[in-house]
Amino acid sequence: MPTIENPFRPGAGHPPPFLAGRRSEKEAFGKLLRQSTILENLLLTGLRGVGKTVLLDSLKPIAIDQGWIWVGADINEASSLSEQNMAVRLCTDLAPATSSLVVGSTSWQPPGFASETLTRHQTLSYHALWSIYERTPGLVLDKMKAVIETAWHAVSAEGRMRGLVFAYDEAQNLTDHAAKEQFPLSLLLDAFQSIQKKGIPILLILAGLPTLVSKLAEARTFSERMFHSLFLKGLSEADSREAILKPIKSRRASIRFTEETVNAVVKMSGGYPYLIQFICREVYDAFSGRLDRGEQADVPVEEIERKLDADFFAGRWSRLTERQKDLCYAIARLPSDDSEFSVREIVEESTKSLEKGFGSSQVSQLLAVLSKQGLIFKNRHGKYAFAIPMFSAFVRRRLRGM
Ligand SMILES: Nc1ncnc2c1ncn2[C@@H]1O[C@H](COP(=O)(O)OP(=O)(O)O)[C@@H](O)[C@H]1O
Ligand SMILES: [Mg+2]
Repeated sequence: MPTIENPFRPGAGHPPPFLAGRRSEKEAFGKLLRQSTILENLLLTGLRGVGKTVLLDSLKPIAIDQGWIWVGADINEASSLSEQNMAVRLCTDLAPATSSLVVGSTSWQPPGFASETLTRHQTLSYHALWSIYERTPGLVLDKMKAVIETAWHAVSAEGRMRGLVFAYDEAQNLTDHAAKEQFPLSLLLDAFQSIQKKGIPILLILAGLPTLVSKLAEARTFSERMFHSLFLKGLSEADSREAILKPIKSRRASIRFTEETVNAVVKMSGGYPYLIQFICREVYDAFSGRLDRGEQADVPVEEIERKLDADFFAGRWSRLTERQKDLCYAIARLPSDDSEFSVREIVEESTKSLEKGFGSSQVSQLLAVLSKQGLIFKNRHGKYAFAIPMFSAFVRRRLRGM
């Protein structure tokens, strides 16, 4: 039997062959869409590779089905550089949804706006949106609100659409720059809150790394009430099994994963979607290679582990200094290493297991540096965790090999 193309797709934002689980997240989103006045928006955070982007993609058809217009983009550093850049971002994202609509179909005009600047027949292209922005008197916030409100009034004049969803991925890149007196993140939050207060159905979704949560809280205290917060975790065991098995079943592939293989993949991946795709892709290739050679297709657990270590973890590891590596070893020895750990726990462990133990200020400093590099993150309760899924299992494998 010919082997069929490998169905697994490890890669940022690549749609998986089968999107496993995430039922409660989709339900929560459905509820947010059913609010009569938008009081809560969606905040979707989680480690890299946990499946935020593909979940966001899967929310889009749900919103469209229920009569919402979906606009959105990835936030990069440039769009968060200044308030004006943020405004450009919003107009750019709105334009595809509004460019076929004419201004004249709504009797609504932006406040303080000379009516001759928008003719009845003018369509709300990017150009028109930007001219509204430029000509609206007041601060950037006033201008931006005028743009979004005009867009909504043009949309609602058509009478069919329920509202507008603004979905922003990689939103951890949103930052206020106090030193430069530029507050694009606060601006975005203020604009949405203020427009929602008027009863206009616009819903904001922000997706990004866990650091986003504290960024929002620092920018605006009301942000905590403004968002329904979902911290995306790895898949449950049952969902992991589906993520592994459905893609091969549906393709009538000649390859079958044995129970043992599936268990090994679940364990090695810890349920993290990226790792599931990565490991399954490797296992699938290894299997088909072996079958082609007429060999038995065993689970190459150690082989896969080695490949995972070399391709996924080793790059990160090699960039660490010796002291940073020592810190990771101390963390990996903790009983709670896979979830959260504190400075005190690391200090205690390091005095037990390392020749040169750490003091608490040293640990705090090292953790701060590693947080900047994206290896560690600090949660809202002041505890730390690895920001790379299954990193501590990798460090433990190194410990065993020493
Ligand atoms: N629920 C899921 N079931 C199966 N595979 C998934 C699931 N969620 C994500 N993936 C896969 O995991 C990888 C990472 O997903 P992605 O959405 O890019 O993560 P993030 O945006 O959180 O970094 C992709 O290869 C994707 O296909
Ligand atoms: Mg992503």
